Amino acid sequence: MSVGLVPTMGALHDGHRSLVERALAECDRVVVSVFVNPTQFAAGEDLERYPRTPDADLRSLAGLGVHAVFMPSSEAMYREDSATRVHIEGPLGSRLEAAARPGHFDGVALVVTKLFAAARPDRAYFGAKDAQQCAVVRRLAADLDSGVLVVVCPTVRDHDGLALSSRNAYLDAGDRARALAIPRALAYAAERFDAGERDAALLSSGGRELLEAEGLAVDYAAIVDPDLFLDVSEAGLGCVFVIAARMNAARLIDSLRLGVDAAPRVPGPA
Ligand code: PAJ
Repeated sequence: MSVGLVPTMGALHDGHRSLVERALAECDRVVVSVFVNPTQFAAGEDLERYPRTPDADLRSLAGLGVHAVFMPSSEAMYREDSATRVHIEGPLGSRLEAAARPGHFDGVALVVTKLFAAARPDRAYFGAKDAQQCAVVRRLAADLDSGVLVVVCPTVRDHDGLALSSRNAYLDAGDRARALAIPRALAYAAERFDAGERDAALLSSGGRELLEAEGLAVDYAAIVDPDLFLDVSEAGLGCVFVIAARMNAARLIDSLRLGVDAAPRVPGPA
């Protein structure tokens, strides 16, 4: 009897639901965890205002036909005297998203390790949008001999190309429109790559210009290898274009695997 685990922080949308549907198609039993994990939020981040919709989440998961939902309290997950940490060494655990959000991946790695121990899944499902998180989880699953197969699922996008995210709830109409610069930048790089361009600096700087043209504050826009997340000079098949950018009320991340993911289809600037 195979068990699939889909870890989430709730406020479920069609991106989450696509992971659940994949798990239901591939596993005999599917467990979904819904837990806004405090250890992966740094001080001053959006832990308090992160959207929480437990009743709607439970209804949605019941409708999909999952076999169990794990919705623990913080106290149940983290005993007061807990002292163990899980840390990813090297560039994967220190660059880009890890540098922008110190401690974030330690929190993700800790909670995922605990969720693996609680659910003992054969497979666990993660979204490609959070590319560095996928690499972190793949690394820890292998290093800790978890025996869990990490399945990475394609990013689900809105009709205009914006990746679905619980944090999109923070965007007003103006920011929502400006945020389309993110999928536009990914599409630019994907189309140039598919046309034969391999100069990573050229691909990423062209994307960055599109972000800055819309007034987004760019934390990073980089083309990296999919395992260590080191910058590459020559963009190869499967290298990842990762973007993190800030608007007034929200910080959004997105990514695209060159030569693997289709270019998002985004309407042109207004
Ligand atoms: P959360 O942001 O709720 O995302 C849960 C899972 O859904 C992650 O694997 C994420 O990559 C995936 N996901 C989010 N948006 C998606 C989209 N538009 N298309 C496809 N998949 C999408 O990521 C977390 O929670 C947490 O860090 C967690 C792994 C649960 C650990 O606390």
